[in-house]
Amino acid sequence: MKTHEIRERFTQHFVKAGHQAVPSASLILDDPNLLFVNAGMVPFKPYFLGQQNPPFPNGTATSIQKCVRTLDIEEVGITTRHNTFFQMAGNFSFGQYFKEGAITHAWALLTGSLEDGGFGLDPERLWVTVYLDDDEARDIWRDKIGVPEDRIQRLGMEDNYWSMGIPGPCGPCSEIYYDRGPEYGAEGGPIADDNRYMEIWNLVFMQNERGEGIGKGNFEIVGPLPKKNIDTGLGIERVACILQDVDNVYETDLLRPVIDEAEKLTGSTYGDGAPKEDNIRFRVIADHSRTGMMLILDGVTPSNEGRGYILRRLLRRIVRSARLLGAKGATLEQFMNTIMDTMTPSYPEIADNRERILRVALTEEKAFLKTLESGTKLFDEAVEELKNTSRAKTPKVLSGDKAFELHDTYGFPIDLTLEMANEAGLEVDMDGFNEAMGEQRRRAKADNQAKKHGHADLSIYREWVDNNPTVFTGYEELTSDAKVIGLLRGGEKVTEVSEGDEVEVILDQTPLYAEAGGQMADRGRLFAGETLLEVGDVQKIGKKLWVHKATVTAGGLDLGQSVTAEVNEEWRHGAVQAHSATHLIHAALRQVLGPTAVQAGSMNRPGYLRFDFNYTEQLTPEQLQEIATITNQAVDANFQVNTIKTSLEEAKAMGAMALFGENYGSKVRVVEMGGPFSLELCGGTHVGATAQIGPVSVLGESSVGSGARRIEAYSGLDAFRYYSKETALIEGVSRELKVQTEDLPERVAQLAEKLKAAEKEIEHLRSAQLAVKASEFLAGAGDINGFRVLTTRLPKGTSGKDLRTVATEIRNRVRDEAAIIFLAAEDGPKVPFIAAASDAAIARGVKSGDLVKRFGEFVGGKGGGKPDMAQGSGSNAAGIEEGFAALKSYVESL
Ligand code: ALA
Repeated sequence: MKTHEIRERFTQHFVKAGHQAVPSASLILDDPNLLFVNAGMVPFKPYFLGQQNPPFPNGTATSIQKCVRTLDIEEVGITTRHNTFFQMAGNFSFGQYFKEGAITHAWALLTGSLEDGGFGLDPERLWVTVYLDDDEARDIWRDKIGVPEDRIQRLGMEDNYWSMGIPGPCGPCSEIYYDRGPEYGAEGGPIADDNRYMEIWNLVFMQNERGEGIGKGNFEIVGPLPKKNIDTGLGIERVACILQDVDNVYETDLLRPVIDEAEKLTGSTYGDGAPKEDNIRFRVIADHSRTGMMLILDGVTPSNEGRGYILRRLLRRIVRSARLLGAKGATLEQFMNTIMDTMTPSYPEIADNRERILRVALTEEKAFLKTLESGTKLFDEAVEELKNTSRAKTPKVLSGDKAFELHDTYGFPIDLTLEMANEAGLEVDMDGFNEAMGEQRRRAKADNQAKKHGHADLSIYREWVDNNPTVFTGYEELTSDAKVIGLLRGGEKVTEVSEGDEVEVILDQTPLYAEAGGQMADRGRLFAGETLLEVGDVQKIGKKLWVHKATVTAGGLDLGQSVTAEVNEEWRHGAVQAHSATHLIHAALRQVLGPTAVQAGSMNRPGYLRFDFNYTEQLTPEQLQEIATITNQAVDANFQVNTIKTSLEEAKAMGAMALFGENYGSKVRVVEMGGPFSLELCGGTHVGATAQIGPVSVLGESSVGSGARRIEAYSGLDAFRYYSKETALIEGVSRELKVQTEDLPERVAQLAEKLKAAEKEIEHLRSAQLAVKASEFLAGAGDINGFRVLTTRLPKGTSGKDLRTVATEIRNRVRDEAAIIFLAAEDGPKVPFIAAASDAAIARGVKSGDLVKRFGEFVGGKGGGKPDMAQGSGSNAAGIEEGFAALKSYVESL
């Protein structure tokens, strides 16, 4: 049975039982504690905790969630069942059915016949575990389902009490295992061998809330949840492994084709009889290709931190594994294409993103291939050196500096260096490495000091976030009456503030926009009677609370007081122009570059905007021009700007550009300009119609690191000012050059050409002049020991290059004699010098290099070269004459 069909059967089973089918959330959710979504229940967390009501008709749902777990990256390929990306199928009950319902549903699907839509597993091969004292679950399994008591085992906190590993919902669980047979390990059920008995489904009886604590087994239970819930997770890839009767999760219909492709590209073979290391490498390639592809699909790009680092590490591991298997050139294109083919039936959105996915992956591969070889060489040399130098007994340690160099110069993720060191039987000095990294970070951090919130600990705002979220009135009005519900000074709560204080003010409602979605916060004022506060910044806490950072410029303010909050109208006018212009540029960009140019970030403030997007090539001037034209045409068309509040699903169906981090069921705001021209999910403030934006001047584009580019522009009056300034500049230049502006380019080109010719001419004349001088100098040469010897100080300001010209010229003239020429000069603080010897002189043992070395000692310098000519530079002009004298006595002594 194909994996896609396993998914379908799962969903249908639960839809028939009244569950709402919910699409998978993005791998990237807005939760600072989670790098990636790692379980099916993550998007449902607020429903379990009772913070929100589940929007499902029967209070039940089912999903197949994309998950990434990268903790055990090194396990991949070694065990039979670890994937870094996997699909967790789950059914969820929010206060509806509990243990009995979950157990009966699961059993019916697993053991139901194929004709009835089940998986047709043999009940005799299924084992279950329950939490230590969970007799209730044991009774259901034994008495209601009929699982014999000896196939029900009890396990402790570590295994059968599930939590997210951090504070959140938790509860005892019951797991279902499939016995793969004696060839996979020892008898005795899951507690004896979890390879032979493979866990396929975890049923969690979510009933408590977990507090702080460490890991899986050691935490506090804070109390019961408002309701008893069910959260389950079935591993689609594991079921596929069983139903397709393959040895491991890397050989199912989704991943095996990548292994086949890797065999073709590397010339190595996979399977029984192949070296164990090779088999692991094949599986790493298959597993990582899929995870990498799915991460890029959800908007991750390779970088040196966080999510981007994981992606980088995965992609680079593929490249290196393929190399070790014998691949010569690039391979990612084939791997990515293969995995996109196998995954598209379940994830049709891949089809629209193929080009972008390839581009991101191939750029990364290219960058890595460029340094892989030289980095590997550096590594091998270091290993060789260690083997030769350190004693046999002491552990061999690769220095932190080497590891840092591999990271910094060759782009080796530290984990790759660790792996390579491990393979070579070495340790790595991680303290040294971390120190070098820390130093680098400190340098980077200095730029990043101006942090948004004065105090990083946000718990002080908790009571307002939970109980009094701010009502934002600024879409409709610029002035609102409000009540002061919170006052902070220096990070402490206070009840009153007075003139001169820098404060944070929390209001029940406000028209001031808080910084979000790239739009900078509004400036404005709070006032009441004599009291006036100037607001310089507004920040949002927990998406719900508006915190005004203000200075009390007159009077005082008490907690509970009524004030008027007013947005600075001019500021807002500029801000909406810039933000709406950003949307137009985004739309224009996608028209010109295609849908693969995905937004990566933006910033707009009155009059100015910048927009970052994922794209690996530099834009041509024509593309940039086209983007600017389309943008300004959209301004000219004066499109109405409409905002629509709707569900995320509806918004996507409308074709709105989907952003990451939105949750199923969230209400979203879609900003529409000119119908399909621009549709974006956006919480920002905008103009009423596009002509209000005024002109938009695109300044240019640049690279902002791996795979992303940036466009900058001015909007409104600032765009006009920019154009005026440019025009004035051009007019000034054309006056200066006395030509019409349209003739400027030609005129400037002419001038440049002329200048070049003039410079050439000067150079030519100078050489000629020096050549003439050569005869003069030569007249001063004397005879020493049968050599014709010339030692001359050239005029001040003669450069080393000029010395060379003169020396060459003179040597040409005395070619047939045994001649030695030595020239020196003072050139600013430098003392350049040069020695030249004719062939006959060389034949008598003269070496120019020796001469400059000797001379160098007198002028505090060094030099070197060939026997016929050598050059150097010193700093002590006082030694020139003495140097000459020394040379002469040297020649005497030859
Ligand atoms: N949330 C449970 C798990 O991840 C089902 O195993």
